[in-house]
Amino acid sequence: MRSITVSAPGKLMLLGEHSVVYNRPCIVTAVGQRMFVTVEKTKDEFFELNAPDVNVRDYRRPISETGNGEIEKGAKFAELAVANFINKFPIAGGLKMKTKSEFSSQFGFGSSSASTVCVIKALSELFNKGLSDKQIFDLAYKTVLDIQGKGSGFDVAAAVFGGTLYFWTGGKIIKPLSIKHLPLIVGYSGVKADTVTLINQVKEKADKYPQVIEGIYDQIQILVDEGKKALLKKDWESLGEIMNFNQGYLASLGVSTKKLADIIYAARENGAYGAKLSGAGGGDCMICLAPEEKIKSVKKAIEDAGGKVIEIKANEEGVRVE
Ligand code: MEV
Repeated sequence: MRSITVSAPGKLMLLGEHSVVYNRPCIVTAVGQRMFVTVEKTKDEFFELNAPDVNVRDYRRPISETGNGEIEKGAKFAELAVANFINKFPIAGGLKMKTKSEFSSQFGFGSSSASTVCVIKALSELFNKGLSDKQIFDLAYKTVLDIQGKGSGFDVAAAVFGGTLYFWTGGKIIKPLSIKHLPLIVGYSGVKADTVTLINQVKEKADKYPQVIEGIYDQIQILVDEGKKALLKKDWESLGEIMNFNQGYLASLGVSTKKLADIIYAARENGAYGAKLSGAGGGDCMICLAPEEKIKSVKKAIEDAGGKVIEIKANEEGVRVE
């Protein structure tokens, strides 16, 4: 039977995490490491999944039951994506699916969102639905919200559209920023962070100190807009400084960690223009920008401070059929 393979990129948040959950903008870039999903139509009415990167092997359940009851953890995003698709576009027969990732689900590169986007794009192609990128975004974002309950959707947008995006909560604005390259250096803190837990922690602070936290979000919004200008001018020095400001606000929201701070300071002290955590915080990755001649010493400083440098290409292509 006909099969199709689709891939989507991972993402890194440049500016605006957390505040983007609350009706504000952020800037996100798609990274070269990709998620791949292969989908095949089958005659029997089952949904079958192999996703060895998240320890799912020979997972199988009746297609009519997808999305209901207990779902194995690693299968959730793929299965809910299938359920949401067939709810809108009923299909005959079953589906056999396998996923493969070029990046670890530990990094916070958005593997769940990328696989959700791949599943919806693959089903749209396989069943000739011709969904537009925005329709894929909407269905994939709904899937992520069905599972997590929270999130801005920026990671879904990066997986669908690729490139570097100015993104507003829920996809109210998704504007590609026309840049050719972005010389980001990325350091992994070695700790896996849980986005929903961190969003909830910040929410608790916002409930206790609403004016303080709203004020911080407003300042981050200004930084996102300033950062956008610097990015479009390739003014890496200013963008680095803006990253430093953003990191300060993220630390005051309580989502930075000593490990992240150590790596960030090491990068700054060894010549980076600026450095910040990227994503929910609590672990995952930091990002920085540095002048060409300092890149080597910054990378060494990140490793010496206990981080792991991850080589990435930023501003990469969005979801595509392979
Ligand atoms: C997580 O990578 C970034 C957050 O802003 C959550 C989101 O935007 O969905 C904390």
